[in-house]
Amino acid sequence: MKFSIVTIPGDGIGPDVVREALGVLDAVATRFGHSFLVTEELMGGVALDATGEPLPAKTLAACKAADAVLLGAVGGPKWDDLPGSKRPEAGLLALRGGLKVFANLRPAKMFPQLSDASPLKPALIEGGLDVLIVRELTGGMYFGDKGRNSAGDEAWDTERYSRLEIERLVRVGFDAARGRSKKLCVVDKANVLESGRLWRETAKAMAAEWPDVELSFMYVDNCAMQLVRNPRQFDVIATSNMFGDILSDEASMVTGSIGMLASASVGAGGPGLFEPIHGSAPDIAGQDKANPLATVLSVALMLRHSLGLEKEAQAVEDAVGVTLDAGLRSADISTGAPGERLVGTREMGAAVRKAFVDQGLGAQNGRL
Ligand code: IPM
Ligand code: MG
Repeated sequence: MKFSIVTIPGDGIGPDVVREALGVLDAVATRFGHSFLVTEELMGGVALDATGEPLPAKTLAACKAADAVLLGAVGGPKWDDLPGSKRPEAGLLALRGGLKVFANLRPAKMFPQLSDASPLKPALIEGGLDVLIVRELTGGMYFGDKGRNSAGDEAWDTERYSRLEIERLVRVGFDAARGRSKKLCVVDKANVLESGRLWRETAKAMAAEWPDVELSFMYVDNCAMQLVRNPRQFDVIATSNMFGDILSDEASMVTGSIGMLASASVGAGGPGLFEPIHGSAPDIAGQDKANPLATVLSVALMLRHSLGLEKEAQAVEDAVGVTLDAGLRSADISTGAPGERLVGTREMGAAVRKAFVDQGLGAQNGRL
């Protein structure tokens, strides 16, 4: 099949990791006979430098017209002192808003090979970890009214949610839980925030539609604590934009490294946006040190969620597993244990591609 993909490498390590992920996408095309028409667009700091805008209109138009968008990362110290609306991050938010991708799926799943890289005690993660964070992505405080008083010594950001915004997000959470361990935990701050009370009220009113899913609620501060105390209690967590941003960083680290976590942002049927959850890590940009696996795994999510290619997605995930089995480790997931080999971005990408191709040859020969 033919698909059009827009890539936005962005800033910092973005281009390093996107390059490797596209190499894997190439291997998918060859092995499964698909054709991916990949075009590159600017967003973030590089877009600011080239056009003065963090999200040029041309980029948004190209993304809207594509089947899916693959993003690296944006931001860096060079652009840190710009006003909020001119920061690279504003481009990312505008892209998410423009594509209307309100549901951000962040699967924090531990590869068993990486259990030693988790900072938690082995007993807490025995038997694996598989938490899906469903983060609201186009509303709440990141999009609410914000400003400064005239003296500049007071600032505000507004957390505001409508029932409709909550419903459509929580629905994604319920549906996801149905296909997994059937537990949905809605995380809010309903003991303090009015918006949190609306989240709770709305989710409760929906529960009857998913009688097979066990619905629970947790305050966000407690959830942050429970994620390190007993992460295995969670299946799906549905939460607001800001809480999901924070909790997904925490959940990712529990699985070994933020360098492993992919994300899929989807909405009401338009192109999905796929990106690693990590940032642009400007300190290691262009040095062949970044872990490309979160972006490679984002390609798998893209194949699965936007392109309907489940078999291909699974094959990419398997190839990552084989690469980790072989002991290859980027710096963020290396523990120095015997059998590990420290590798750079390029070598990791090449190893995944090779594992992917070998797997295909094995399948052809009836060995797999
Ligand atoms: C993320 C990032 C972004 C966010 C930043 C870069 C705007 O932290 O995707 O988690 O806050 O959503
Ligand atoms: Mg974040």
